[in-house]
Amino acid sequence: MKIRLDKFLAEETGKTRKQVKELLKQGLVAVNNEVVKKPEVKIDTDVDRVVFDGDDLTYKPFVYYMFHKPKGCVSATKDAHDQTILDYFLAKDLTKEVFPVGRLDKDTEGLLLVTNDGELAHRLLSPKKHVDKTYYVETSLPIGEEEIHQLEVGVDIGEKTRTLPAKIEVLGENSYKITIHEGKFHQIKRMFHAVGTEVTYLKRLSMGTLLLDPKLLPGEYRKLTEKEIERIQHES
Ligand code: URA
Repeated sequence: MKIRLDKFLAEETGKTRKQVKELLKQGLVAVNNEVVKKPEVKIDTDVDRVVFDGDDLTYKPFVYYMFHKPKGCVSATKDAHDQTILDYFLAKDLTKEVFPVGRLDKDTEGLLLVTNDGELAHRLLSPKKHVDKTYYVETSLPIGEEEIHQLEVGVDIGEKTRTLPAKIEVLGENSYKITIHEGKFHQIKRMFHAVGTEVTYLKRLSMGTLLLDPKLLPGEYRKLTEKEIERIQHES
């Protein structure tokens, strides 16, 4: 794609065109190893290498972030009352129109993939793909072996069909790890309700091969690594 150098720099760095022009004047930008000072120069993002103050900005149309959604934040980019994911992102990382892939309830914590790659989001959320999602769950009451078995084979949550088989690991008195292959509205809460208990705490730990980075505190985010992007692109 051909694009003006100043527009490209503004998009990539989150700076204004005016700031970018100033930086160009200072000789801080190189295209294919040559300093370029003119903002109107056209670059080809498929072949040209743009380095700004030592940083390789080679054009990437898509961005991918792992976000540790905190409680109280809604899985949206706009809301009249609640904090959205965008309230947690720095302006410099919001040069593309990002959105969360799928939803977690307002009171659920954990992994949300945030991107502007609509095709990937579509594939990951497709019911046909059954991308695994693993959650850490705490409940008001412990459940017994029979209830665990029911969750494992599928329960009636008021949909046309029972839930697909799930995998459960008992971690403590009333704490569990559960992996499901679908993503119906309030699915985990409804599954545990169906076997006689209520979810009191819920956190998503993984989505397909993407694991929530334990270094990220609620409200923090980071870029996906190239490896993580490659793996998640592959499995969907
Ligand atoms: N299941 C739920 O009940 N809530 C979530 O946020 C995610 C899965």
